[in-house]
Amino acid sequence: MKKKVLEDLNVKNKKVLVRVDFNVPVKNGVITDDNRIIQALPTINYLIEEDAKIILFSHLGRIKTKEDKQNNSLSVVAKRLSELLDKEINFVPETRGEKLETAINNMKAKDIVMVENTRFEDLDGKKESKNNPELGKYWASLGDVFVNDAFGTAHRSHASNVGIATRLETAAGFLMEKEIRYIGTTVENPEKPFIAILGGAKVSDKIGVIENLLKISDKVLIGGGMAYTFMKALGYNIGDSIVENDKLDLAKSLIDNSEGKLILPVDIVVAEEFSEDADYRVTKYKNIKPNETGMDIGPDTIKQFKKHLKGAKTVVWNGPVGVFEFENFAKGTKAVCEILAKMKNTKTIIGGGDSAAAAIQMGYKDDFTHISTGGGASLQFLEGKELPGIESIDDSVDCDCDDSNCDC
Ligand code: 3PG
Repeated sequence: MKKKVLEDLNVKNKKVLVRVDFNVPVKNGVITDDNRIIQALPTINYLIEEDAKIILFSHLGRIKTKEDKQNNSLSVVAKRLSELLDKEINFVPETRGEKLETAINNMKAKDIVMVENTRFEDLDGKKESKNNPELGKYWASLGDVFVNDAFGTAHRSHASNVGIATRLETAAGFLMEKEIRYIGTTVENPEKPFIAILGGAKVSDKIGVIENLLKISDKVLIGGGMAYTFMKALGYNIGDSIVENDKLDLAKSLIDNSEGKLILPVDIVVAEEFSEDADYRVTKYKNIKPNETGMDIGPDTIKQFKKHLKGAKTVVWNGPVGVFEFENFAKGTKAVCEILAKMKNTKTIIGGGDSAAAAIQMGYKDDFTHISTGGGASLQFLEGKELPGIESIDDSVDCDCDDSNCDC
């Protein structure tokens, strides 16, 4: 079933509530990666052009204490958004009450109000995170229609996404639409050959993703820390490399049931300690010494990955294949970026998280078909799960297909 989209809404002079995911990393009051803000600009710019009154909601961090509250005001985000749009934003440091209501009632077409961090409501009984009905009802009462553009939050059933959506006419914003189009469609009906690349530290974080990708893809290429749990499960010495000893049986059964689809690295860059400037060498996977730690995939593995990827019509990548934060061990992750960047006739999708951050940081931001803004949301989507934030968006009235991939 197709979802209602932004163009389906009448927004002229309407108070349009917009849920964005501006949960961006902030260090010492400075935003260190504003990609999520940039990705929300098309929706906000469209609403400005269409003469809407735009009321933005987002969370930032997790709010458990008064100190969390002091450190997680959205004011820093409002400032950055104002710079990016070159437009004044009326940031209201409240999540409810007279000040907020007056600001909204005084809005003219094209004005933007940003509400304070929705999770400030969590200090008082987790009202946002538990989708408190009174809170969802109150926020919905502030607007005429709702746009959900917060894909990063789509795996949560919170008051500011599901709570509002169940009470107002709701459409997907452009970013949400794009995420559904690329990740949702790939999971439902991937164009084949479909190759997945999975990295990251732990098997346990991605069990559901590995299982689902083994079902729907032609091959799953494994890199990153999780590779060592698979190698140990096969009985190899992995030295001091990261391992989840309680997941060895699971890893072995994933390999045994993969019908040869699960591909492990053939060589590894190992170091004598986990540090930026540690001495390192390349070794075959069978020859890791007891005092060595696996840090990256080796050059033969890169060649092998390239061979497996040749001719693919769809590639999904989630998780760096090495410790990319250290320059000496970033070569594998960079090589994956380079290989995929050259596959111009292939749908190349990065499923969010650290691999998205790595690709952007390494200068490949425009070289993929789609880089997801989700972390947990992308993982759950790749697992084939339904996401409450997406489910609660209205279905398109022009479509009664069962399939979100339909051409209605
Ligand atoms: C994310 O960064 O993955 C989203 O913003 C959701 O944040 P959460 O995991 O704190 O709910």
